[in-house]
Amino acid sequence: MDVMTAVLTRRSEHLLVEPAPSDQEFTYLLRAAATAPDHGRLRPWRWILVRGEGRAALGRCFAEDCPAPDHRRDQAQAAPRRAPLLATLVFAPVADQRIPEWEQLAAASAMTSSLTLLLHARGFGSIWRTGRFTESAGARRLLGLQPDERLLGWLYIGTPAQLQPRRRRIPDDVTDRVTVLTDQLVGAS
Ligand SMILES: Cc1cc2nc3c(=O)[nH]c(=O)nc-3n(C[C@H](O)[C@H](O)[C@H](O)COP(=O)(O)O)c2cc1C
Repeated sequence: MDVMTAVLTRRSEHLLVEPAPSDQEFTYLLRAAATAPDHGRLRPWRWILVRGEGRAALGRCFAEDCPAPDHRRDQAQAAPRRAPLLATLVFAPVADQRIPEWEQLAAASAMTSSLTLLLHARGFGSIWRTGRFTESAGARRLLGLQPDERLLGWLYIGTPAQLQPRRRRIPDDVTDRVTVLTDQLVGAS
């Protein structure tokens, strides 16, 4: 799959089933994704892969952090079952005088975007989910986060339940988001 096709046919997939990539395949794709722009090559992130019973334990943490009523708690508890693999994205900023934290967050985001495209090109689907549970104390404890680390959410990964290939998107017109600094403007300044 060429890059343009990958970009235009990728979707956030809500219905994900087995198979998901193995730990080895995930890591293989991550090595490629980690070549995304990363000022200083700090790798200010790490991933924690959650499957099987780990998803149930994570669901219990989500439920604990969910206010009543009970049906909301049940929904929260079941949430991690929406995909066979939950890849937890942890932001681990590095103290570096040259490279501010926002740049490190941008690098983590660039890597994740590449990873979603690589997963898609391999026939897997994913969706990046965030929300209130990124603040869950129970989830932080379960996953062993350090105080200076931040949960950036979970990439829910599996195989899209929908069998037909996604159509290419017609990209939005974003020309109004582009301006050109012309020579005349430079001269007038
Ligand atoms: C940082 C980030 C957080 C997101 N969090 C959620 C989320 O909590 N729940 C959700 O359904 N989608 C979430 N998404 C996915 C977006 O909703 C999705 O990308 C958007 O709807 C566009 O759909 P598309 O990816 O198919 O183009 C998130 C995306 C990003 C980049």
